[in-house]
Amino acid sequence: MNRRYRKTIIAGNWKMNMTASETRKFAEDMRAIAPRAKWCEVVVCVPACNITAATKAFKDLHVSVGAENLYYEKSGAFTGEISADMLKDLGVKYVIIGHSERRQYFGETDFSVNKKVHAALEAGMHPIICVGESLEQRELGITMELIALQVKSALAGVSAEKVRKCVIAYEPVWAIGTGKTATSEQAAEVCTFIRTTVRHLYGARVARSVTIQYGGSMKPANAAELLSQPDIDGGLIGGAALKAKDFVEIINAANQD
Ligand code: 13P
Repeated sequence: MNRRYRKTIIAGNWKMNMTASETRKFAEDMRAIAPRAKWCEVVVCVPACNITAATKAFKDLHVSVGAENLYYEKSGAFTGEISADMLKDLGVKYVIIGHSERRQYFGETDFSVNKKVHAALEAGMHPIICVGESLEQRELGITMELIALQVKSALAGVSAEKVRKCVIAYEPVWAIGTGKTATSEQAAEVCTFIRTTVRHLYGARVARSVTIQYGGSMKPANAAELLSQPDIDGGLIGGAALKAKDFVEIINAANQD
């Protein structure tokens, strides 16, 4: 983390979990443990149908509600899809774009990711752009090339001013939901590389202001170590964000003085 130049953001990604009632229960549990979120922003990205319930439930907890996806068209005949303006109108501040599960199961491509990043920014939201390599790609030694390609294509056509509003999450696919966390060295190496890529595109001042998160089996036991790396400015947390106690412990790890 580097709190001087950029925001630390701890974000939960609930994926396809939690009903509206479970959302309310989670917020109650969180309130009872009282997280110390003095130095960081806390976000919970929830299924779209639970955004209203989450906004109400998290109101006094200083937790921003995020979405997990959007569709890039403004409106029209796109059955089942949700636009950026619809999310914004519900009070959504952050939206995850290009999660590897969406790339893997729902045909998301670098091209659609870029269009979604533009749509989120245009609506005034902060996209959390996910990038990351598969195990095969890591073993082939092409991690950095792949990350550079994903970052550059996600940000294509985005102005320097707007890039400051983007969050980039490094999520190695092999570490998601597997219990296998990247070592802090592996995570730091790629997060630093992401910042260097942003620096080449937009210059040093912009690069140092962008929040870069790590995601992939982050949990209370490894959060402090990962977050102690200068280029890791937070976490995007799946499994551990479904348990209020674990999530709060990760928030607390990001808020040590
Ligand atoms: P896990 O924390 O369950 O590995 O999931 C990470 C993730 O995909 C967050 O977007």
